[in-house]
Amino acid sequence: MRRAVIVLPTYNETGAIEQVINGIVDSTRDIKTWDIHMVIVDSNSQDKTQEKVEKLMKKIPRLQLLRVEKEGLGKAYIHGFNFAIEKLNPYLIFEMDADLSHNPKKIPEFLKKIEEGADFVIGSRYIKGGSIPKDWGLHRKIFSVGANFVIRFGFMKLKITDWTSGFRAIKTWIIKQSIPTIKNYSGYVFQVAILDYAVKHKAHITELPIEFKDRIYGKSKINSLQYALQTFAYVLFNSSFIKFVIVGLIGFVIDFGISYLFIEKFKSAIWLGTVISTESAIISNFFLNNFWSFSHKKLDHKLSSYIPNFLKFNLVSSGSILIQTLGVQLAVNFFGKQFWYVYKIIIIFFIVIPYSYIFYNKFVWKEK
Ligand code: GDD
Ligand code: MN
Repeated sequence: MRRAVIVLPTYNETGAIEQVINGIVDSTRDIKTWDIHMVIVDSNSQDKTQEKVEKLMKKIPRLQLLRVEKEGLGKAYIHGFNFAIEKLNPYLIFEMDADLSHNPKKIPEFLKKIEEGADFVIGSRYIKGGSIPKDWGLHRKIFSVGANFVIRFGFMKLKITDWTSGFRAIKTWIIKQSIPTIKNYSGYVFQVAILDYAVKHKAHITELPIEFKDRIYGKSKINSLQYALQTFAYVLFNSSFIKFVIVGLIGFVIDFGISYLFIEKFKSAIWLGTVISTESAIISNFFLNNFWSFSHKKLDHKLSSYIPNFLKFNLVSSGSILIQTLGVQLAVNFFGKQFWYVYKIIIIFFIVIPYSYIFYNKFVWKEK
């Protein structure tokens, strides 16, 4: 029988913890195909959380308590994951809040998704059937919806709607592999980091609608502003798409600088200056993209991989140049040449960038 461990981080959850644990016991009682355990990871709660868990442990043998320092939600989860892996060797690990915001009745649905082949199941508040509390304050709604918007578009992974959800079922192999990478994210942003890791390592990810209920007991430990800033920084430093746009800007500077140098300073023929500058920018873009933007799927380090892909890269890049040239010309023919730079910017943003991003992903840095 496969084992699943539900990891529940707690900090001052004395009001809810018994109901949460009993709720999990009730809603998993009829499951015969999984061996389900619970690990409470408590960061030195000042209330009676630990005593309540210890009392319940006497009658629930599959319940354990891990005491850790208060170092943030991410760190608490990492401790819980390591403990579960060492002590229980599970096939599957759950993340779940211990304040009754997550309905334990959903657990069998997560297991079903795993049985159907998923590696990573997200309890999502933003797909059809899911919800956030109606009475959430406006600022909390804006932070949550806004953060998910920034992440989805920053990563250009529109299919996943809830990146920050804390109700998830994740196969242990993903957690084991990702710990060295994500262990540095001590706060709530670790949720984004582990999911990003799973996406980049080809995990099969699915979403399940959940209704997130506002807590009745105790209070939230989230610092929304800090979370939003950390999320923003995470996306900025980890998004292939944003890196790819930055590489494009660097390429533009190189292209412009070299053509200026050749044409103005060396008095070379314009065509020669243009060829040299364009190709220099293409070469720099190719290597920066390979080792930075798409580093998680960089090309095999051999000529037989570099040469054909470099040629394909040139082809796609020539396409960008062609689209820009023709597009600007066409716009100028229609609307006059006064605002040519506006047309150029619009074409770059809405056609060239999506076009080249999609083609680089499809033809040069393919999924392995
Ligand atoms: N051990 C430990 N240490 N537990 C913690 C800590 C900590 O430093 N901080 C929070 N927790 C526990 C809480 O006791 C609760 O069981 C759970 O983690 C979630 O914390 P809340 O403070 O209730 O978070 P929230 O409801 O505001 O945030 C929810 O939404 C976020 C995204 O919008 C959670 O589901 C988050 O996981 C999620 O990222
Ligand atoms: Mn909560």
